Amino acid sequence: MASVINTNITQYPPNNLQIFEPRSHRLLTMKEAIIHPDLHVTIEDADIPRPQPDEVIIKIVIAGTNPIDWKGADEANARALHGDLDNHPHKNAGKDMAGYVHSIGTKVFDFKPGDRVVALNHSSGFAEYGVGPAHTTAHIPDGISFEEAATTGLAYITAALGLYRNLRLPEPWNPATEDTPLVIYGASSAVGAFAVKLAVLSNIHPIIAIAGGSGNTVASVLRADKGDILLDYRTGKDALVQSIRKTAPNLKYVFDAISNDETVDILTSVLAPKGSIYASSLPGDQLKKIPSGVKVEIAFSPGLFEPYDPSGPDGPKSPNVAPRAFSHAFYGYLTFAWSEGLITGHPYKVLPNGLGSLEEGVKGLRDGTNHGLKYLYEIAATPGVSGRN
Ligand SMILES: NC(=O)c1ccc[n+]([C@@H]2O[C@H](COP(=O)([O-])OP(=O)(O)OC[C@H]3O[C@@H](n4cnc5c(N)ncnc54)[C@H](OP(=O)(O)O)[C@@H]3O)[C@@H](O)[C@H]2O)c1
Repeated sequence: MASVINTNITQYPPNNLQIFEPRSHRLLTMKEAIIHPDLHVTIEDADIPRPQPDEVIIKIVIAGTNPIDWKGADEANARALHGDLDNHPHKNAGKDMAGYVHSIGTKVFDFKPGDRVVALNHSSGFAEYGVGPAHTTAHIPDGISFEEAATTGLAYITAALGLYRNLRLPEPWNPATEDTPLVIYGASSAVGAFAVKLAVLSNIHPIIAIAGGSGNTVASVLRADKGDILLDYRTGKDALVQSIRKTAPNLKYVFDAISNDETVDILTSVLAPKGSIYASSLPGDQLKKIPSGVKVEIAFSPGLFEPYDPSGPDGPKSPNVAPRAFSHAFYGYLTFAWSEGLITGHPYKVLPNGLGSLEEGVKGLRDGTNHGLKYLYEIAATPGVSGRN
């Protein structure tokens, strides 16, 4: 149901009467895209969201898609992937959004209306206006496009969770001082590529990056001079195992951005049977085959938005402090690394007609058509969005 505007917050752009008419008390609505369980997409009217104290509302310029957008369209499948969540407030499923800060909540001190930002949320990003929790929102420096920014959100933080919360490897601001062999499986996926980029910034070497036809996505980031290698998963298990063992005979760390029966089979053949850690981007039965001496961790980005941190110091009902602080630190680092020219986004393709192509995009992700690419959507090009159609 549409709501009447409250005039107590600062909004951007200030002169855009189509979205802000305080005197007329016009009902404020926008377009948003809903992905249905069979992956067909409808464009619907919705209220423009209003910020909670620790949120920013973003006028979205570019939205991005992720595999969870098709996997999670089916309720049962979504529950299998991330369990029951306490936080699921918005109807549209979009995770990654880049645009201008439109309004801010009362406890937001590091963003103001008009700022260029990229944000991750569990939902709300397939719309004209989305909601960025302050701890998963980052400034976009001059010179970085909204398109490049929109490739980062979920994939970037999942890579960070895998390397630093799961594997407990040295952060980029406290880089490694000794050899730390690390396998990154699926290095040309968005998550895997950001894991490679972050690992290099942490001086973690040798990196054994495993990719397929899109290996060029990370080839130039790897440091051959520090022992990094790029392997092709299409060469098969025996060749991979042999190459990994040669580079890392006592392998302690893997980050598996693919995580299926085959990757578990290969990686458990090369991991040290005791004292090693297997970080996976996905939960699932495949992980049950990992030997008991290997610690298994799962990168869990939905946990960033939950009220509790089950692994917190005071048990399952620990307030969610550490994951939110982690996220603040890593999105702040993203802005820094961009400004310094230390990191780049993922390669991308902007699909035509904005959210009008969302169905094609999520079906493409399901069918694996996006080799080494993020699919992006220009919101203003969406049918029915004022100004363009
Ligand atoms: N836990 C979380 O919070 C979380 C968050 C984000 C994503 N994820 C999960 O992490 C996985 C990766 O997500 P993403 O967004 O990075 O995916 P993505 O960018 O869509 O991944 C596409 C790439 O995966 C590679 N690939 C596909 N099958 C492969 C295989 N068998 N071995 C190695 N590489 C393979 C392909 O590389 P080539 O073209 O080189 O063959 C392809 O280009 C997904 O399963 C996703 O659901 C989890």
